[in-house]
Amino acid sequence: MSDINRRQALSVVGGAVLLASCGSAPKEAPVDPDAHDVHSYGQPDKVRVQSVALDLEVLFETRKLKGNAILVIDAAKGDDPLILDTRDLDIDSIEISAEGDDYGPAKYTLGTRDPILGAPLTITLEPGTKFVRVYYSSRPTASGLQWLMPEQTAGKKQPFLFSQNQSIHARSWIPIQDSPGARITYKARIRVPKGLRSVMSAEHQFANEEYADFEMKNPIPPYLIALAVGDLKFQAVGPRTGVYAEPSVLPKAAKEFEDMEKMIAAVEGLYGPYRWGRYDLLILPPSFPFGGMENPMLTFATPTVIAGDKSLVGLVSHELAHSWSGNLVTNATWRDFWLNEGFTTYIENRIQEVVYGPEQAVMEQALGWRSLQDEIKGLPASDTILHIDLKGRDPEEGTTDIPYGKGSLFVRLLEQTFGRPTIDDYLKRYFDHFAFQSITTATMLAYLKKELLDKNPQLAAKIDLQKWVYEPGLPESAPHAVSARLEDVAKDAKTFAAGSLPAREIQTAKWSTQEWLEFLEGMPPLDAKKLAELDQAFHFTKTGNSEVLDQWLEMAIKAEYAPAYPRLESFLKEVGRQKFIRPLYTALMKTPAGQVRAKAIYKVARPGYHPIAQTSVDKIVGKP
Ligand code: BES
Ligand code: ZN
Repeated sequence: MSDINRRQALSVVGGAVLLASCGSAPKEAPVDPDAHDVHSYGQPDKVRVQSVALDLEVLFETRKLKGNAILVIDAAKGDDPLILDTRDLDIDSIEISAEGDDYGPAKYTLGTRDPILGAPLTITLEPGTKFVRVYYSSRPTASGLQWLMPEQTAGKKQPFLFSQNQSIHARSWIPIQDSPGARITYKARIRVPKGLRSVMSAEHQFANEEYADFEMKNPIPPYLIALAVGDLKFQAVGPRTGVYAEPSVLPKAAKEFEDMEKMIAAVEGLYGPYRWGRYDLLILPPSFPFGGMENPMLTFATPTVIAGDKSLVGLVSHELAHSWSGNLVTNATWRDFWLNEGFTTYIENRIQEVVYGPEQAVMEQALGWRSLQDEIKGLPASDTILHIDLKGRDPEEGTTDIPYGKGSLFVRLLEQTFGRPTIDDYLKRYFDHFAFQSITTATMLAYLKKELLDKNPQLAAKIDLQKWVYEPGLPESAPHAVSARLEDVAKDAKTFAAGSLPAREIQTAKWSTQEWLEFLEGMPPLDAKKLAELDQAFHFTKTGNSEVLDQWLEMAIKAEYAPAYPRLESFLKEVGRQKFIRPLYTALMKTPAGQVRAKAIYKVARPGYHPIAQTSVDKIVGKP
């Protein structure tokens, strides 16, 4: 951040000086210097899209969504055009209308394509224009869509499609002002081939053999519009919760996530009502590039969290927590991403504490602490700042442990400094105050100062906001969770590694997934002989727990433990979750022999990966 920016940010934080307003902003309102989104061409301060109605046909043969989008805008007053974000859309025609019945042709230009941002679509309006209808289709390469062949699904008979809009992929299938600060409501009619079902992050209004209608009545950021189509069945797990999945996956998924209702009750008890009606979960095929995605009313999730023992359901606690931190109160720009993920990671852990107990919650915190430390070691200092500068970069480059881990430790520090009752009450008011708004870091800090810090000046003196939010690294004041159970495991790991304790003699009968993870992660580098001893005692190469397997495979690569190679290869060819595959390819690329294997595996695996994962693994292995 430039010094000027920092001073401006702090003057808003200080609250004492409200910056002079400029342009058309109302005089009383503080101008937030950071509200401008460098990742969107849209200028919602001039002409603003209020809602979108999609009518799209899902064409599996050509891998296209084809149809139209009607955008309802603040009626045009002056000469300002409407500017939309697009990336790789084929625009057929554009029409405008004042009242929504009679449309006339509109003039438009599609600008040059920026590799990260795509191309601005500039549409000339007439005085009084309120409706803009864009006829278009997406391309097979749309970065926000993955089209799966039947073989890539659990059932192997039907194709599958899913979207992933965060961070800036909505524009690859919807012409829209693709900024988290430009909230919209949406409706959609989705036309699907016979036998397939569509689901969206919205209320289901109607469905027949040919199409389904959806509506999201709350204003949401465009990165939360979501669509999936496949051989999907539904099973209720509670009065307002349920699971969508392919038929063969559904029973075990519904069992694994049967606590969803308890999770909602836990957050409602802390921070106020769940405001989205239903909360359902969609289990995607294994190529889904993330663990989970908090699409409103319908979290998208990887099947790799179904461990059989609920040990990885923290992911659902996380995505559910976004119904408050993220979907209700949203980061205004990708610089402010830590407002979404830091608060959510904190709340995720509070849910785990209520539903699965304090020991479980502390173990998860302690594992988070280690991964944050490791992440900080590998990142340039400027990328360890919460209010990170992402200008000219893909916003996904900001998706590190910093917004998650460092961000949550900031909230945890507030909790430990001011006490739980105070911080719980503060957060509840924060969510209420900013409900259905997108806010910047400066706005959050101004509210924090007014509603918490200024009321408790002596305690507030202990929190160095400047350091936490605008400077690199982890401040000394970061609260470090210690788990007694994990410490015991760490001792066993060290004694085993030192050769003084045979694997078979370690008392593992009562270990949870988190303890197994600590056992492996806490180990110094081991050679292949040691890994063989572990594998014989605990059968890691055959484990059905994806987190444990991922950790094990990384160790196997480093130790060149050949018996794990076939499982490594099949895992990389089946699973596309970036959290797993990126570290594995990175480890392989460290030796010449590993590089040969990485390239051979990637050549076969790449076509099955999501475009987002392809782009990120291309950077590690190279494009085959
Ligand atoms: N919103 C994120 C996923 C995301 C972030 C997608 C940035 C695209 C860009 C989601 O809530 C998330 O954090 N998922 C995590 C799981 C969670 C338990 C930490 C993931 O996918 O690994
Ligand atoms: Zn998240």
